[in-house]
Amino acid sequence: MNQRLKPVRGMRDILPEDSARFSLIEDTFRSVLSGYSYEEIRLPIVESKNLFDRGLGESTDAVSKEMYSFHDRDSSELALRPEGTASCARAIVNHSMAHEDKPRLWYAGPMFRHERPQAGRYRQFQQVGAEAFGYSGPAIDFELIQIVTNVLESLGLIESVTLLINNIGDATARARFRDALVNYLNPYESDLDSDSRTRLHKNPMRILDSKNERTQTILEGAPKLKEFVGDHSTERFELILGMLSEAQIAYEVADQLVRGFDYYTDSVFEWVTDQIGAQDAVCAGGRYDGLIELLGGKPTPGIGFAAGVDRIALLKSETQEDASYRSTDVYLIALSEDQRSYVSEIAKRIRQGTNLRVREHTEPGRMGSKMRWADKSGATWAVIAGESEEVELNVSIKWLRSDREQLRVPLVGMLEVLKAA
Ligand code: HAM
Repeated sequence: MNQRLKPVRGMRDILPEDSARFSLIEDTFRSVLSGYSYEEIRLPIVESKNLFDRGLGESTDAVSKEMYSFHDRDSSELALRPEGTASCARAIVNHSMAHEDKPRLWYAGPMFRHERPQAGRYRQFQQVGAEAFGYSGPAIDFELIQIVTNVLESLGLIESVTLLINNIGDATARARFRDALVNYLNPYESDLDSDSRTRLHKNPMRILDSKNERTQTILEGAPKLKEFVGDHSTERFELILGMLSEAQIAYEVADQLVRGFDYYTDSVFEWVTDQIGAQDAVCAGGRYDGLIELLGGKPTPGIGFAAGVDRIALLKSETQEDASYRSTDVYLIALSEDQRSYVSEIAKRIRQGTNLRVREHTEPGRMGSKMRWADKSGATWAVIAGESEEVELNVSIKWLRSDREQLRVPLVGMLEVLKAA
């Protein structure tokens, strides 16, 4: 027997109703970002594995455990991108864009991480991201946060999320903090959860992210990162917070927020929700002032965010009752095959003269069956043409979602009736 084929674990089909939600989210980002004059960049899905080893850090989960890496035919090591920031920075270096243009860019597309799948966590997921290169003042941090706020407001989701923000300082501050943290945690090693025990030697700052209660209790007495951050960075951070307060953008300063990639410096932020389960971050980002240099470019500050479209779609479906999904406005029926070309002419007029979505019934059959398909399509109207309509250059319009009586109107008056509704 043939076995039914399924998508690969963690990868999924986004069916039309969800897809419409994804498009709405992406279109909202696109339009808000374009209002801030961000330009689109399209980046490859496959990159050299080395880009992520260097850019994100070899000890990060995304690189050490979750990377979809493979050998090309010439045996070079490639990877499906786990995120977009490293690719974007690579492109900036390759095209020498940072200094000349101070680009503000955005991208959208699928990312791949071999994580344990669960609600809101997939191995292929969709992001919309934005990155700005060449800006070191706090106003750009504020701008990016404001962009995401505007998008979440437009989508009606701002009340469902909390903005967390933290300052993680530069690499030197973090190295000093890391040593102090390891010194503090070493005596508790056997009391930590097993993930944290592994991280103690590889990536100790990620222990701060642990959801384990016992580990969190131990962390209460640990040194705090902010005690290690330099004055300049702290002042900059205070300025960002001031701008957010002035713009009445609510935030919480979250000491435990450290983010999962090595490229981050200074301000980092994340929008979380308690309405979609354990995978609670819907959008996240921060500053990465050393990344361009690390990838071979001139020292250039950078900052950005990426939103998880799958999770925002989940939040939208959890929190809002959608108007029931419809893909068709007008369902067009030829009574018999003889009216096929007349009906095509009608379809052309509606498509050219309105934004209505027109679906033609293309199969022969009985009228009853055609009307059942019209009803199932969710359309507002069935527009029907038989022989007498064709001869008299008329159409019959039937309202499918109300009791309004069927109308027969001249073809030249049809658009007026449809537009009036
Ligand atoms: P990230 O926090 O790894 O950051 O991902 C950003 C967002 O992508 C998350 O907040 C989440 O909504 C979504 N996401 C991540 N992993 C998954 C998954 N397995 N399934 C579903 N959604 C997921 C970055 O990717 C950075 N590049 C963000 C950034 C841009 N920082 C500076 N510029």
